[in-house]
Amino acid sequence: MRFIGNKENLLNNIHYTLDKRNIKGNSFFDFFSGTSNVARFFKKKGYKVCSSDLLYFSYCMQYAYIKNNSLPKFKKILPLIDTQQINLITSPLDLVLDFLNNIEPIKGFIYNNYSIGGTSALEKPRMYFSDENAQKIDSIRTQIEEWKSNKLLTKDEYFILLTSLIESISFYSNISGVYAAFQKKWDKRALKKFTLRPIELVFNKENNEVFNVDSMTLINDIKTDILYLDPPYNERQYAPNYHILETIAKYDNPVIKGITGMRDYCNQKSSFCNKDTALQALDNVAKNAKYKYLILSYNSEGIMPSKKIIEVLSRYGNVELVEFEYLRFKSNNNGESKTKKHISEQLYILAKN
Ligand SMILES: C[S@@+](CC[C@H](N)C(=O)[O-])C[C@H]1O[C@@H](n2cnc3c(N)ncnc32)[C@H](O)[C@@H]1O
Repeated sequence: MRFIGNKENLLNNIHYTLDKRNIKGNSFFDFFSGTSNVARFFKKKGYKVCSSDLLYFSYCMQYAYIKNNSLPKFKKILPLIDTQQINLITSPLDLVLDFLNNIEPIKGFIYNNYSIGGTSALEKPRMYFSDENAQKIDSIRTQIEEWKSNKLLTKDEYFILLTSLIESISFYSNISGVYAAFQKKWDKRALKKFTLRPIELVFNKENNEVFNVDSMTLINDIKTDILYLDPPYNERQYAPNYHILETIAKYDNPVIKGITGMRDYCNQKSSFCNKDTALQALDNVAKNAKYKYLILSYNSEGIMPSKKIIEVLSRYGNVELVEFEYLRFKSNNNGESKTKKHISEQLYILAKN
């Protein structure tokens, strides 16, 4: 999934770094979970995993990937849909997704607010989704909610379907990476016919837990072997960048405003997006949570200076900094040329006293 700070490509590096230092345990807490990729990786390794994030769509993914521990059976849905194509290799999830992919499109909140057809009265009609895809998203989202209201889905099944929808949407969005703006011309991806994709579930034998809160409120209750922190690196809050995914996940008809149709996010602001509060928040976590190892992923361009991070973490134990260098191509202001820049992904490892 396209998500700023997604650690998918760094998972093996992170794991290798910890393994080499014999940093192991039974429990893992993913404090800023985002796509839940890191939590998923450690779930597969057999850890009891807890995860948390301010974003509700992240919580849906955490529920499906981290908390859920079985294949969905959709016992109450399958009898309602035409299952003629049932054969031994078609899973219940595939059958339900196939049904959802073929239901009648409807004009709902997404069509009315994020497609050209639905926003033609605006001075700048919003071009997030093609008219057809926006209507398909509305019909699928409405059907999932109707099934839930009629008690036809287990909680696991509900979040698995929402996660399939959320994961599929980024393949059809007319954006250059985040939802804070739409493209002024159609990207090829946005013109393809919207189709839900199945997701890959992972299981372990643990009672994993997931939260949709400001993780700072959990600090006093955390007791884990490895506490993994992957906070925002800069002053840009996540909620406005992913406002449409949040609205599709909640489907709560929010009041929206501005050119991009942004929902309110005053309750989803992170103390890590402010250079005055970020170090204080880091100190609070390192001091008050109970853990053996605290692992902080950060970036050499982040708003907390490396020296200060080391100063804060060193108050509570022995700190090591490991850096993975990479080259980033950065467009200049008018996008005419590109410059190379050395960036490093950082891993701060604190072994608590
Ligand atoms: C760098 S991203 C994490 C990426 C994640 N490791 C992944 O691989 O997808 C930071 C995440 O922290 C979340 N976040 C920021 N401040 C938070 C807070 N105080 N409590 C909970 N989540 C927070 C953001 O919503 C965002 O999803």
